[in-house]
Amino acid sequence: MKSTINQLITKHWAVFRLIGVMGIMLCLVSLMSLASNTGNKAEVSTATLVVKKDSVASVAAFKKVYRVLMSPRCMNCHPAGDVPLQGDDSHLHTMSPQRGLEGKGVYAMKCSNCHQPTNTPGKNTPPGNPNWHLPPANMKMVFEGRTAHQLAKQLMDPKQNGNKDMKKLIEHADDGLVLAGWNPGEGRTLPPMSHAEFKKAWLTWLSTGAYAPKK
Ligand code: HEC
Ligand code: HEC
Repeated sequence: MKSTINQLITKHWAVFRLIGVMGIMLCLVSLMSLASNTGNKAEVSTATLVVKKDSVASVAAFKKVYRVLMSPRCMNCHPAGDVPLQGDDSHLHTMSPQRGLEGKGVYAMKCSNCHQPTNTPGKNTPPGNPNWHLPPANMKMVFEGRTAHQLAKQLMDPKQNGNKDMKKLIEHADDGLVLAGWNPGEGRTLPPMSHAEFKKAWLTWLSTGAYAPKK
């Protein structure tokens, strides 16, 4: 008698275990499909950015984009030379840290020695980001001194923009270093419009044919 009960329990345990394992697997599968769905959604939204050419709207949008690109929060990392710029007047960085091959500085003057993963509290302290660096030596992405015409052409040229296609250009609006411009640390002015407005102008410029202003 006792042994049949034991047998029953053992048998049921096997069933319970099976149900348990299946339950976990079901959860995993639904989680995975959830994750891939959100992935798909993001892709659909970028893939559905249909280019509808409109040179007037495009040029107007780029003029807004240009105002942000040329603001000190952006231009200071997109200098014409190999030394980053500082301050709202975009003067040469004190102690002249050099770009280096990868844009991360050289020898004892690596950007990350002073620029921490987050902003250092206080005035005149280094702004922070885990990836704080200049564009690399073979792809300098200069903004300083470029006219709106020149910069629009340059941004769309794969040889000068790091081989970015439309999708990558769209995504760049939310790049960590771009977002850093709107969290610049104490005592620094913000770019001339909100990040949302900038992103809208950037997308409008691209989706209307990425026309360059005449000048
Ligand atoms: C020796 C320390 C040090 C090193 C090395 C250094 N920086 Fe800085 N950086 C600073 C400090 C301090 C400030 C803030 C200066 C101020 O606000 O007066 C600053 C500010 C800046 C700014 C201005 C930010 C803005 O919004 O105006 C940029 C851009 C910058 N650094 C880029 C770099 C890059 C790129 C490198 C590496 C190639 C680098 N720095 C290396 C200390 C350093
Ligand atoms: C700490 C330095 C730094 C700051 C500050 C910075 N950038 Fe950049 N930017 C980079 C680097 C490095 C790259 C190249 C990396 C890449 O392409 O992913 C880059 C690339 C770009 C590109 C792509 C260029 C091209 O030719 O396609 C754009 C657009 C851009 N930045 C816009 C901005 C804007 C807008 C701001 C200000 C809101 C800004 N950046 C601030 C370092 C910076």
